[in-house]
Amino acid sequence: MSITLAWVNVVLLIIASLLFITRRIFKNLGDKKSPFAQFLRKIMPLLQKIHPIIGVSFIVISFIHGYLALGLITLHTGLLIWLTALIMGTVAVVGKGFKINQKLWLKIHRPLALLLWALFFLHYFNPWLI
Ligand code: HEM
Ligand code: HEM
Repeated sequence: MSITLAWVNVVLLIIASLLFITRRIFKNLGDKKSPFAQFLRKIMPLLQKIHPIIGVSFIVISFIHGYLALGLITLHTGLLIWLTALIMGTVAVVGKGFKINQKLWLKIHRPLALLLWALFFLHYFNPWLI
């Protein structure tokens, strides 16, 4: 069960990251009227809409995975991923609350996504490092 949930988390992580990836690809497309561009135009708002739900689900499901895998939550490479996701969610909620500079919080949220992926590879390839 813990392993199944681990891979559910990976899928959620990929969907959460697709928001950024599809936007970048779209931005760099020469022909914005091509069928592929039209496809991206359709899925980007959908990815935007589900993104916070995916993020919160990730936080909940990865905690359950960690709890089942260890029997209790202690300092572990997995916990580092989880804490990063928690900070990302908090930054998004607090950032959206402040109306001054809407994009400032994204400058924290985005690099944390990169950190999260790095921690994921650490957790996958060297789970017992700490
Ligand atoms: C509870 C958790 C999360 C919440 C509430 C949240 C919320 C948001 C929101 C509101 C945006 C702005 C979307 C927009 O431009 O309209 C955003 C952007 C972004 N999120 Fe999250 N997010 C969460 C978790 C994650 C996770 C786990 C990842 C992936 C590792 C992630 C990666 C990103 C990236 C890369 C962007 C920037 C997209 C861009 O620059 O176009 N987020 N997030
Ligand atoms: C809450 C903190 C977490 C803890 C305590 C935790 C703990 C563990 C443990 C003990 C293992 C087994 C390691 C081994 O092979 O000996 C594992 C495997 C794994 N974890 Fe986590 N984890 C956590 C969060 C996460 C998160 C956030 C992800 C997100 C993607 C994740 C993805 C995985 C994957 C893909 C595996 C490998 C499953 C396999 O063997 O196929 N974990 N985790």
